[in-house]
Amino acid sequence: MKAAFLTGYGGNEVVAFGELPEPEVKDGDVLIDVFAAGVNPVELAMREGNYRQLLPFTFPQVPGFDVSGVVIRAPEDSGFKAGDAVFARLPGNAVGAYAERVAVPAHLLARKPSTLSHTEAASLPTVALTAWQAFLERVHLKPGERVLIQAGAGGVGTFAIAFAKHLGAHVTATASTANQEFLKELGVDQAVDYSRERFEDFGPYDVVYDGVCGELTERAILSLKPGGRYVGLVRLADARAFMSLGLPEAMAKAASAGNARFEALAAEHGVAFHGLITRSDGEQLQEIAALAQAGVIEPVVSKVFPLDKLDDAYAALATGRTRGKLVIEVQAGR
Ligand SMILES: NC(=O)c1ccc[n+]([C@@H]2O[C@H](COP(=O)([O-])OP(=O)(O)OC[C@H]3O[C@@H](n4cnc5c(N)ncnc54)[C@H](OP(=O)(O)O)[C@@H]3O)[C@@H](O)[C@H]2O)c1
Repeated sequence: MKAAFLTGYGGNEVVAFGELPEPEVKDGDVLIDVFAAGVNPVELAMREGNYRQLLPFTFPQVPGFDVSGVVIRAPEDSGFKAGDAVFARLPGNAVGAYAERVAVPAHLLARKPSTLSHTEAASLPTVALTAWQAFLERVHLKPGERVLIQAGAGGVGTFAIAFAKHLGAHVTATASTANQEFLKELGVDQAVDYSRERFEDFGPYDVVYDGVCGELTERAILSLKPGGRYVGLVRLADARAFMSLGLPEAMAKAASAGNARFEALAAEHGVAFHGLITRSDGEQLQEIAALAQAGVIEPVVSKVFPLDKLDDAYAALATGRTRGKLVIEVQAGR
């Protein structure tokens, strides 16, 4: 089968395209004919080898988490059958989206909304599950609450804006000057231009959903009301997140020890601190599919690349200026 793959850890020079053997289908797996695959920034860090201890690669390694396609073959008791249009987020330890075929554990699959193309469906799994798990499992966002979404114009942000509006929140989002109109088109109540405004001046917030983190984390925590909740997405995973990947509690605590100063600051300020790692989950994805089917969520795909141009997609993503999502067309015209 044709695939885009990595030949080792490194920069874009390790991204290759060619023929690879068909995937191994294990008990409980559904074999999928992949039509489209969504691109996510974490893949750049995985390509560099930054996750090699937690999620080691074996080369040639097909990367990529988010797929949409059609079932070729499924176990009888899986609830799926040949010909079903499906989408999924693959498990972190078994990525492989940028290939014509992939084997997916049945419990991670959901039926593709008929209103979406495969390209649109492939743009959703990671960003949708991230917002779902942050808003519903972690911070319990309630109607009428004020939420700040950092990086509102990117993949994570565009989905989170629509989902937070659906949950009845008042949404403030940050972006550069060039994306202010775009934020308004997405339906934010307040667009903040981070190049000339301070998000603190539009708070205080009940919840911060932070797709930027780094030097903004401390300011974001302090912009919360007492009783507020912070959820960080970039290199801030907490012990609960590591445990959800299967790490024992003691190791999970050690792995998240770098957050201690933010956890202390949050406690001092009377707010909760969360650092999320997205979990693949077919049941949640099916609920997200229902929202897309109903038109509550509209995917934002800004650019589609062919399978042999994964390196170009990674280069575009690395600029940090992507609007919405980038998607790879794995099998053209399907
Ligand atoms: N923890 C997890 O499991 C998890 C899950 C999903 C994503 N993430 C992480 O979350 C981050 C965002 O993901 P993404 O998919 O949204 O990435 P993305 O699509 O590459 O985000 C690009 C967007 O970031 C915006 N941006 C850059 N600097 C900004 C700043 N200082 N303030 C506000 N906006 C800024 C840009 O808007 P402008 O051009 O207007 O600046 C651009 O639209 C990534 O680091 C990703 O790895 C983590």
